[in-house]
Amino acid sequence: MNSPAKGTFVASNAAKVAFTAHRQPMESEMRAEDNRKLTETGPGTPGGEWMRRYWQPVALSEELETERSVVPVRVLGEDLVLFRNQDGGGAIGLIDRRCAHRGADLSLGRLEDGGLRCYFHGWLFGPDGSCLDVPAEPEDSILKYKVWIRSYPVRECNGIIWAYLGSGEPPNLPALDCFIAPEQYTFAFKGYLDCNWLQALEVGIDPAHASYLHRFEQDEDTEDSYGKQFRGASLGTNMPMTKILREYGRPEILNARTEYGQRIVALRKLDKDGLDGSSTHVRITHQVFPHGITIPLSSTMAITQWHVPIDDVSSYWYAMFTSLDEPVDKATMRAQRLEGITLPDYKPIRNRANNYQFSYEEQRTQTYTGLGKDINVHDQMAVEGQGYIYDRSRERLSRSDRAIVTYRRMALKAIDTVAAGGDPDELLMDTADVESRGPIPLDGIGPTGDWENYWAQSIADLRKASPWASELEAALRTGPAGVPGAEIEPDRSQSPDAYDRS
Ligand code: FES
Ligand SMILES: [Fe+2]
Repeated sequence: MNSPAKGTFVASNAAKVAFTAHRQPMESEMRAEDNRKLTETGPGTPGGEWMRRYWQPVALSEELETERSVVPVRVLGEDLVLFRNQDGGGAIGLIDRRCAHRGADLSLGRLEDGGLRCYFHGWLFGPDGSCLDVPAEPEDSILKYKVWIRSYPVRECNGIIWAYLGSGEPPNLPALDCFIAPEQYTFAFKGYLDCNWLQALEVGIDPAHASYLHRFEQDEDTEDSYGKQFRGASLGTNMPMTKILREYGRPEILNARTEYGQRIVALRKLDKDGLDGSSTHVRITHQVFPHGITIPLSSTMAITQWHVPIDDVSSYWYAMFTSLDEPVDKATMRAQRLEGITLPDYKPIRNRANNYQFSYEEQRTQTYTGLGKDINVHDQMAVEGQGYIYDRSRERLSRSDRAIVTYRRMALKAIDTVAAGGDPDELLMDTADVESRGPIPLDGIGPTGDWENYWAQSIADLRKASPWASELEAALRTGPAGVPGAEIEPDRSQSPDAYDRS
């Protein structure tokens, strides 16, 4: 009577032994303490101190374009309130959400008299964190001169409000196209992700996933692709990106370190369906420190997308769309994106709670995921599916993860450098003498074996035709690859030294 149970026990024990043997730490596995170092960004954590050396996107400008311009902000685990002053030129303040008196919630405060006034006892705080009034005190009280509330410097640029949460003087916003382009050539939007920021970033530096996660079984008219990722044609051709991604699922990936992060090249030699392999699809994307990527939306529009931690288990992506040739049709771009989210939190309509409105029928016949045509939803499900904070000590990397390994190495080194009192290598201290660092993405088809020259010529032509980028010489000063000599990183995805700090 006991034998089945005993047999079961023996079998499961054997399986457990086999599993344990299989689970000998793989060479490229990450130590748990390194995973924590990369994923924890709250105040006082090593990762948090590193990230606080950079400007962080904290709200879209449109969030303050309301009758009462006050919004709560949670960023890097800190609860703050952002407001645009009604007096004195509309200065923007980012201050502690808790009142300095006895902790009431200032996001519900009164916007008046040159600041934000607490509803509890009327204390008034200016955008710089100074206390302007303590009305319940005797008239001769000097208490207000002794009170300050935590506040951070803010800048508004191209539809996004940025904050500097670090100590000391903030650097300039770096000389990236998304900051330099005239406002009418840009569009900004954001979206919520129910997971740690690093998962969200890593999907953006993983060129292979686009052939699977974003696969469409049918190609649409590429003329109807405005504002949509992967729906247009590759530069200089009428070949839909969807067809190339679907048919060529093993890209050759090359990555190189740059002064801002990484350049990542994915090459797909076109040798199917009667094509002779003399042409190669070239997709060039970038990682921009600390948590950004720059990718092509179309041949003339780039997306720079920042993945800022709300806290350790949730994040926002902030996308800056930058057009080289024409002003952006912001109304169309915004309407397309509003379809998939709810305001005021920019939370996706498809989410964990409704199983992303998954459709089996669609998965069998139209898309790889069964999650509709919005690729942001595909990415969202992929990264939220890894858990709230993905445990990288349990993964098994493949060669297509080489840029992710390089990013983790660079970030771990930067975190250690900041912990030791230094500046991270990738902190761009740009001043006016650097006109633009790009980075310049590309999705096009060029001659096999000559992608660097093809890229150089293509981007030179595109920029020459641009009303705002044609005079920016610095963009190409360090060569089209963004690094002198274009040194390609070794693939360390199977390496025992995957996460050493060199
Ligand atoms: S708690 Fe804000 S004024 Fe008293
Ligand atoms: Fe993706």
